[in-house]
Amino acid sequence: MGLTNRCATLSALLMMLALLLGGCQSLNTEPENSLYQQLGEREGIANVVEDLLYLIVEDERINQQFKGMDVAQFHRNLTDQLCELSGGPCAYTGREMRELHSDMAITDTQFNALAENLILAMEKNDIPTGAQNRLIKQLVPLYPDIRNL
Ligand code: HEM
Repeated sequence: MGLTNRCATLSALLMMLALLLGGCQSLNTEPENSLYQQLGEREGIANVVEDLLYLIVEDERINQQFKGMDVAQFHRNLTDQLCELSGGPCAYTGREMRELHSDMAITDTQFNALAENLILAMEKNDIPTGAQNRLIKQLVPLYPDIRNL
């Protein structure tokens, strides 16, 4: 076999190897890359929501609105909602966003305060920044319902 031919065979082999490895890589990293996995599945999300609740209580911009709420129910329902929105195997069974928030006259400042606290809670739980952004992006479509626009 001439040198050119051998080189051609070698590069064909290398290309096949690269394709194979590339294929395996995408098969392997798909679940790890999913937003739900990156958030630490339902348990990780539940921890984030718990820390979010502590931050809400401390935050003078929004804590008045949350006075008297059922903390356990809020924790369960928001965890299910974020689990579902991140592609996890959960189903949110609480009331509609618009119906829930319609009497609260929530301002932009208050909406942003909640998003800010959610980011802080994710930060505290070592959620990668990319995953934080992806979760926030999933919440954007809820904005008009929560603001009652
Ligand atoms: C991205 C933003 C938000 C999301 C995803 C969200 C999500 C939720 C969810 C899933 C519930 C149901 C919990 C339950 O069943 O108890 C809920 C309830 C509630 N939300 Fe929001 N919310 C957001 C923004 C806000 C803001 C900005 C405020 C006020 C400043 C607020 C105040 C409340 C209150 C007080 C409840 C309890 C209502 C009740 O028990 O009747 N939310 N929210």
